[in-house]
Amino acid sequence: MIRTPEAFVRTTVDREGEPGARWISELPYIVDELMDRWGCVPDGDVMHGGVGVIVPVRRSDGSAAALKVSYPHPGNVHEPDAFAAWRGRGAVLLHERDDERFAMLLERAGASSPTSTLAEVEDGDEILAVAGRLGRRLAVPAPPGLPRLRDRAGAWEEELRKDAAELAHALPPSVVAAAAATVRELGAVQPDILIHGDLHPGNILRADREPWLAVDPKGYVGDPAYDGGTLLKSRALALLGADDLRAAVDRALDVFVEAAELDRERVRRWAQLHAVQAAFWGRRHGFRGARGGAELDWIVAFADHLATLLAERP
Ligand SMILES: Nc1ncnc2c1ncn2[C@@H]1O[C@H](COP(=O)(O)OP(=O)(O)O)[C@@H](O)[C@H]1O
Ligand SMILES: [Mg+2]
Repeated sequence: MIRTPEAFVRTTVDREGEPGARWISELPYIVDELMDRWGCVPDGDVMHGGVGVIVPVRRSDGSAAALKVSYPHPGNVHEPDAFAAWRGRGAVLLHERDDERFAMLLERAGASSPTSTLAEVEDGDEILAVAGRLGRRLAVPAPPGLPRLRDRAGAWEEELRKDAAELAHALPPSVVAAAAATVRELGAVQPDILIHGDLHPGNILRADREPWLAVDPKGYVGDPAYDGGTLLKSRALALLGADDLRAAVDRALDVFVEAAELDRERVRRWAQLHAVQAAFWGRRHGFRGARGGAELDWIVAFADHLATLLAERP
């Protein structure tokens, strides 16, 4: 039986309460049953992310694979559909799926060495370029049935309006207006393209079959430039130390859009929306690792600053 990582037990029970605790107690049996059914044996320490455990396994042919079981949450249903559509191009292969269990048997990335992610690479430009190239490969015609980002535009606009009205904040009205315009103008009409949906360096793994492979997609349908916004947001803290923040943001945009072959303006605008949403989110809920106090104030002020910088068309 697997030993579920303690940190994963804690965060799942904290977030999901009683149903989370029940699922945690069933998880070792679920994993056993799936390994049995898919002819796998354990092959290493159990890993985890925010919502799922990843069990390194060997298949009966000796190949290395990874069994992922996610918490049964509506946000996790479309992951196997995205992997199926990519058929291994830019992402790990999907070998088996059990949608009722929120489980997948995936190709193991970096099978010959301990898992390492793009987040561990030191050179910021390399991170942006690798993620950009990967984002471009993943932008393929969308299969039917996946959630469309454009269907969320109405809710995003309402949320912005509510947050701006209810929360004490220091964002200039023009900066909030720029985010609302992005939702209306880019959010409402979007192409039928499959995008990763959570493209950050921790979800890009070093691999053998290709140098880097994506994991953990949301499987959204919409503007690939949206993923550029996600990626740039994930790089925000890395920009903290920059002497000239404006120049650092411009450079990050340049490197990413060149590799991703995307329109710079669209990526800038999505990134600006993400920054405004993060600034409000932080005020309402705090961030993982900074729930309150001076540190949270500081991150929120930085998000305000980025949102303002990104609102200016360079
Ligand atoms: N196919 C895979 N091969 C090797 N390692 C993996 C694989 N999938 C996930 N991992 C490891 O597990 C971690 C969490 O996986 P992820 O799918 O991102 O989970 P979550 O949805 O909980 O964020 C990854 O950062 C990586 O280290
Ligand atoms: Mg992840």
